[in-house]
Amino acid sequence: MSIRTVATTPFNDQKPGTSGLRKKVTVFQSAHYLENFVQAIFDTIAAPAGSTLVVGGDGRFYNREAIQVILKIAAANGFGKVLVGQDGILSTPAASCVIRKYQTYGGIILSASHNPGGPDGDFGIKYNTANGGPAPEKITDAIFARSKTLECYRIADVPDVALDQLGSFSLGGMTVEVIDPVADYADLMESLFDFKAIRALLSGGFRICFDAMHAVTGPYAKEIMEKRLGAPAGTVINGVPLPDFGQGHPDPNLTYAHELVEIMYGSPAAFDSAAFDSAAFGSAQATGEGALPERSRRPDFGAASDGDGDRNMILGKHFFVNPSDSLAVIAANAALAPGYAKGLAGVARSMPTSGAADRVAAKLGIPCYETPTGWKFFGNLMDAGKVTLCGEESFGTGSDHVREKDGLWAVLFWLNILAGRGQSVEDIVHQHWAEYGRNVYSRHDYEGLPADAAAALMDHLKSQFASLPGQRFGGYTVKLCDDFSYTDPIDGSVSTGQGLRVIFEDGSRIVFRLSGTGTEGATLRIYLEAFEPDAAKQRMDAQEALAGLIVIAHELSQLKSRTGREQPTVIT
Ligand code: G1P
Ligand code: ZN
Repeated sequence: MSIRTVATTPFNDQKPGTSGLRKKVTVFQSAHYLENFVQAIFDTIAAPAGSTLVVGGDGRFYNREAIQVILKIAAANGFGKVLVGQDGILSTPAASCVIRKYQTYGGIILSASHNPGGPDGDFGIKYNTANGGPAPEKITDAIFARSKTLECYRIADVPDVALDQLGSFSLGGMTVEVIDPVADYADLMESLFDFKAIRALLSGGFRICFDAMHAVTGPYAKEIMEKRLGAPAGTVINGVPLPDFGQGHPDPNLTYAHELVEIMYGSPAAFDSAAFDSAAFGSAQATGEGALPERSRRPDFGAASDGDGDRNMILGKHFFVNPSDSLAVIAANAALAPGYAKGLAGVARSMPTSGAADRVAAKLGIPCYETPTGWKFFGNLMDAGKVTLCGEESFGTGSDHVREKDGLWAVLFWLNILAGRGQSVEDIVHQHWAEYGRNVYSRHDYEGLPADAAAALMDHLKSQFASLPGQRFGGYTVKLCDDFSYTDPIDGSVSTGQGLRVIFEDGSRIVFRLSGTGTEGATLRIYLEAFEPDAAKQRMDAQEALAGLIVIAHELSQLKSRTGREQPTVIT
C-alpha cells in the first residue's frame, strides 16, 4: 500500500463542542480540514497497530465522502479493521452498540445531530471511546491541542470502497467490513423490551406513528416497528434518510416535527393522508403486515427522532410529554421492561433538566446525579455501575445498554410501559404528577444572537450574583446563584462554566446557558422550572405557569436591550 504524507497547516478552530466538532459543510470541504482533524484524533488516541474502529454517520450530505477519507487515513495510520455501516449509515446509538458488541478500540461518528444538512447545512465528526460513549473532555481537549500543532497527515493512496455492499473488503492492508447498520441494534432492543406485549398492544388496535424526519432512524424504525413488532406499513413516516433531510430541520420538538404534530394534534384525517397513502395501504394488504388502522382515529402514540437517532419526542393524543417528565416516568415504570426488571442502580440528569427524576429516585431509594449538559458526562457513572438511566431536557434519554442517548430506545420503553399499564400517554403522565408532584418546565432558545452580545449578557448576569440572594422579584425570592461546576465522582475531573443558575427560595429556578453545538453566532438557552405539588393545578399550561419566572429571566438578563429580542426562536 502506498501511503502519502501530506504537509498541512493547522487550523485554530477545531475545538470539539458539546458533542464533537461541528461546522458548516463548506468548512469541512475546505482543503485538509477533515483530514487534519481525523489525523489529530488518531495521533491523540494512539491506537495500537491492528486495532479495530467503527465508522458511520447519519447519512447527511458529505457523509459518504468523509467516510472514504477517514478509511484511507485509518489505513495509513495502522488500523487493522474498520466496521462501516452499509451506505455509511449508523445512527449514533447503533454506533455505540456496535463499538461495545464487537469490543472495538473506538469509533468515529459523522453527524451534526439535529442541525439541518445539505450543501449549505452542517456537518460534524466525533470520536467515541471503547465504552461506546463520546470521548471525555480530557481526550477532546487533547485532540484540539494536537489539531493546533499538526504539520502533516498520512493517507493511503487507494481507491474508494463500495459502501453499498455488505461484506469484507481490503483497503491497502486494512480490512473494511461493511455491516448491516440495523441488525445488531434491533437485536439489542429486542433483548431489553417485552416485544410480545408490545405486539399484542399494537394488534389490539393501539395506533402509533413514528416520524423519522427523513433522517437516520427510518430503516431502524421500519425494521423494529413494522417488521419485528408488526405495526402496519406506513407507521413510520418520512422513513427514507435523505442527505438534506428533505430540507427539514431534523429536531424532534413541537416546532420542527410539524408533520407529526399535525397528526397528533390536528384533524384526525392527517395521519391517514400522511402515512396511509394508497401505496402503503396496498403493500400492507399485500404483505399482511398487521391490521389496517381504523381510519377515523388519531394515533394513540406519536414519536419522532432526530438526525442521528439519539433524541426522541413522545406524544399522546393532543398531548406532549416533556422530556424531563419522560425520564421520570421511565424511571418510575422501569420494572415493566424485562431488561430493567432487576431494578435501577441510580439515575442521572443534566443540570438544566428538571428535578422530576430526582423525586422518583428519592422514592425508589436510589441516587440521582446532576451532571453538566452533554451525554459525555454520563459515561463514567454508567461505566462504574452507578446509574442505569440518564436523561437530558433536550429530548435525550438513555441507559447503560449503550453509552449514547437513544431515541428509539426511549420510544420502545414508552411502548413497553403503555402495554404494561394499559392507559393512555396522558393518563400515565397525569397520574405521575399526582403521585410525585409536577416539575413545570420549559426551555426558551434565542438562536442566532451575535456572539459578543450573548457573552456580555452572561457577564452581566454573573456580575449580579453577589447582590441577588435575598432580593425579591414578584412572588420569588432569590436563594442562591452560581455558575455550575461539576467534579466527576469517578475520575475527579472538574468542569467549570456549565451554566448560570438562579435558584429561588421555593425551589423554582432559572438557568442561563450558551449552546455549545451551534455553528453560527450564539444561542442562548433559558431553562425555567417551578414545582407544583397541587394536583388541582398541575394541568395548567407550562408557559402560563412559568410566566412570572419568564419576566424575571428577561429582567435579570436585560435580554431585550442587549439582544433586541423578546420572543424565543424555539420553545420546548
Ligand atoms: C444540546 C443540548 C444538550 C445535548 C447536545 C447534544 O447542546 O442542549 O443537552 O447533549 O445538544 O445533543 P447545547 O447546544 O445546549 O450545547
Ligand atoms: Zn442527535
